[in-house]
Amino acid sequence: MYNSKITGLGYYLPENVVTNDDLKEFMDTSDEWIQERTGIKERRWIDPKTSDDSTSSMGAKAAKVAIERAGLTKDDIDFIIFATLSPDMYFPGGGVRVQDMLDMPTIGALDVRNQCSGFIYALSVADQFIKTGMYKNILVIGSENHSGGLEKSTRGRGVTVIFGDGAGAAVLSRCEEEGKGILSSHLHSEGKYARELMLDGPATGRWVDAIMEENNPDDTSYYPYMNGQFVFKHAVVRFSEAIVEGLQANGLQKEDIDMLIPHQANLRIAQFIQRKFQLSDDNVYNNIMKYGNTTAASVIIALTEAWELGKIKDNDLVVLAAFGSGFTWGSVVIRW
Ligand SMILES: CC(C)(COP(=O)(O)OP(=O)(O)OC[C@H]1O[C@@H](n2cnc3c(N)ncnc32)[C@H](O)[C@@H]1OP(=O)(O)O)[C@@H](O)C(=O)NCCC(=O)NCCS
Repeated sequence: MYNSKITGLGYYLPENVVTNDDLKEFMDTSDEWIQERTGIKERRWIDPKTSDDSTSSMGAKAAKVAIERAGLTKDDIDFIIFATLSPDMYFPGGGVRVQDMLDMPTIGALDVRNQCSGFIYALSVADQFIKTGMYKNILVIGSENHSGGLEKSTRGRGVTVIFGDGAGAAVLSRCEEEGKGILSSHLHSEGKYARELMLDGPATGRWVDAIMEENNPDDTSYYPYMNGQFVFKHAVVRFSEAIVEGLQANGLQKEDIDMLIPHQANLRIAQFIQRKFQLSDDNVYNNIMKYGNTTAASVIIALTEAWELGKIKDNDLVVLAAFGSGFTWGSVVIRW
């Protein structure tokens, strides 16, 4: 059996910076409220007037960088896994769009619909394909265009201020060095909480026709809904469990963690986890202050930035962990 390891990393963010003060144009909010509750100072939102960025085009741009940094070309990639909750189209997904945009051979493309833990799930799937020997190099992408679907008004402020756009990508490659690369991944779900963080329509349970027919201005079913405090309480518990599970499976302790990359849901959640595991500031990487919560892109953008800043070195123990809508959560433990 082979191991898999990350050989290339890249990210792409839309140029348009939206500060907390900018949000006051559409809603009753304040920089103070947002920073105090979430740690977010600004986020990137695609500006459709000046940019033709989309979920898949941002994913393709991030992927290009990752492939180049892996020392590969698009023709070396055997498979694409694309994680998003905001595909350009209801169907098909983003993976096939990237295959076309990067003019890749007719390789397989799989979309993963696991929201904030989407990249963790995608990486785990890629790892299994490499372990079995089926593929050698897999492109794993997380990308989101949230801004196009957020309710930009006071009614939507509890959700809208948190989310940002962006994309990240990794190339996962076959590795024959023992004890290196992905050591384990653990995935979980608890679907009874599906409605605590969701977007109800359009979907087969809530088609656009039904929404339009009702023509009800109070209908918010086509905007994301989040029961913030409920999500927060579950997130802190599940994040911790996923990290402990990953460490235990490899006979490791919290002191062995060189770098924890938590999904960037809320700086308060990340700080709680940091305290719980007694990690120093050098051992946790956060960038939610600059980008908000970019859902399936958040872990991979943060991992790429941390690596670019020289915060991840050869042989480091890197732990990725995420929690989100579904609920779904999980962790990946990597020996870099
Ligand atoms: C969303 C979150 C920041 C909200 O913080 P909170 O302390 O729970 O705030 P509440 O929702 O209870 O709202 C408190 C008050 O602030 C108001 N408020 C909500 N959003 C606001 C905003 N952007 N600006 C100003 N006021 C706002 C509410 O209307 C409410 O007012 P009220 O008391 O007069 O009714 C927080 O619950 C959270 O981060 N949850 C986890 C979210 C998460 O991780 N999501 C992603 C998972 S992947």
